[in-house]
Parts: sequence; structure tokens; C-alpha cells
Amino acid sequence: MKTKLSPSEIAPLQSIEDWEDDLLTRYPEPKDKQAKAKDDYRNYHDSERVDTVREFYRLNHTYQTYDFVVEKEREFLKFEKKEMPFWDAVDYLNTLIDDSDPDTNLDQLQHLLQTSEAIRADGHPDWFVLTGFIHDLGKVLCLFGEPQWAVVGDTFPVGCQHSDRIVYPEYFDRNPDSKNDRFNTKYGVYSHQCGLDQVKMSWGHDEYLYQMVKEYLPEPALYMIRYHSFYAQHRENAYDHLLNDHDREMFKWVDKFNPYDLYSKVPVPPDSKALRPYYEDLVAKYLPGTLKF
Ligand SMILES: [Fe+2]
Ligand SMILES: [Fe+2]
Repeated sequence: MKTKLSPSEIAPLQSIEDWEDDLLTRYPEPKDKQAKAKDDYRNYHDSERVDTVREFYRLNHTYQTYDFVVEKEREFLKFEKKEMPFWDAVDYLNTLIDDSDPDTNLDQLQHLLQTSEAIRADGHPDWFVLTGFIHDLGKVLCLFGEPQWAVVGDTFPVGCQHSDRIVYPEYFDRNPDSKNDRFNTKYGVYSHQCGLDQVKMSWGHDEYLYQMVKEYLPEPALYMIRYHSFYAQHRENAYDHLLNDHDREMFKWVDKFNPYDLYSKVPVPPDSKALRPYYEDLVAKYLPGTLKF
């Protein structure tokens, strides 16, 4: 399928940062204060980005089918593509940012450090700080030429009905799964409260990193990594019928994590040089020196 995509279908956004900037427009306030902010989402006019983000979601919702996810899992979860020292992967992430708007786009390392430093400042355990620091590392998928909509974007379950609480739900009309009786019922291939571990999510940086580090971090960290883009659940509770009690317990951590991801931007960027020794030790405590991609 990849060969049929045009350049604008591979990269509808100027920068993959635009998805996260758009999330801030959609969720300007933390969950406990969210009230009616999101009702205004469709009324805002930051026109150029609105158009590219909309196109991004059109592609994402059209192409992220159950079979697409199966195919991506087969391709990437063997982790046979590349071996890279952890810090090389971080350096690579920093080359991803489009330079058309250098004033507003933080590089990825700064986003990771702002997230993790905010977690550290609140006195959380070191594995939580580490989670903040690595949570977007799965974006190295871009290294392999993956389309933006298969790296970033809100994630959602595939194999069952698409919730209308997912952003731009109308674009799911173009997704073949929505016409397939196996996949288009409330439960689809799943069953009541079967647990998220049974549920395939749309493919992107969350699942990829989760699979890469699942041996090394405590379970709450793994939930934060695996479901941090699952806004339809952690903000909208649209898939309560698939979660089991254990998921619900663990989603308290996903909720705890989300504000650090979305609202930790600070005016003065963290000093990545000065912080590096701390993070080198932290990474070495939990992760192998070289990761398989
Ligand atoms: Fe992310
Ligand atoms: Fe993030």
C-alpha cells in the first residue's frame, strides 16, 4: 500500500508537531477542568493548520484498518530493522522537526525534557520521570519513511465500531472496516470488558515504543506509553465497554501523565546539556544501552 501514497499523503502536516499543537487547541485545559472548552474546537480559526490537520485525520481514519495494523505489527514488531544506542535515537528524533517555523516548534528533545522535568519537579518516582523522557521515542518510526498518520495522531481501537467521540469521526466513512460486518459493531471482534490487552489499537508511536520497552518498565509506565494518545478513552471515556477493572485502575496513571505531556511547555527551554548526565544515569538504570528498532 505504501507505494501508492503520494508525498502529500505521506506527510500531510508541515511538521508532526502540528498534531500535538492541535491537541492543545482541542484540550486547552486539563481533564479535571475541561468543562466546555472542547465544544469550541470546531470554531477556532487558525486556518492553515486546521486544514492540514483535517487532511491528516482524513488519511489516518481512512487507512488505519484492522488489516493495516496487523501488517504494521508484522513489519515492525520483529525489531529487526536497526540497532541503535538509545542516545542516537534521541538525536535522530531531533532531526524530525520541520524548520519552517523554528520559533514555535520545540524540538522533540525539548518536549521530552519539559515533560520529564515537570514530572520530576512534582516529586514522582524515577521510572515516571523516565517515562516522560522516552514517551515519544516511538516517533523514530519516521526514520523508516512511515506516513505521518501511522506515527502520530489520536489512537483508537480497530476491529470494532469507531466511536463518534474520536476527533473527525465522519472520516471513518471512508475506512473499509466501517462497511465490514466483522468490524463495525459495538464490540466487533472483541467482547464485553475483554481488557485492552486483547484490543488492537491503530498503529503509531505509542504501541511501537510500548512493545520495545515492555520488559523494562513497571506496568503503570507501560500504560502511559501505550495509551497516551488514546484521547477517545482517557479524555472521552468512549470505550469503557472494552476496559476491564485492571485497565481502569491503570488508566489513573494515563490520566496522571497526560497533563505533563500537553501542558508542560515552559518559556525557557530546559538546558539539555546540563541535564544529560542525570538522564544518562536514569536511562542506564532501566534500559539496555542499545535498543532494537
Ligand atoms: Fe506522543
Ligand atoms: Fe508527547
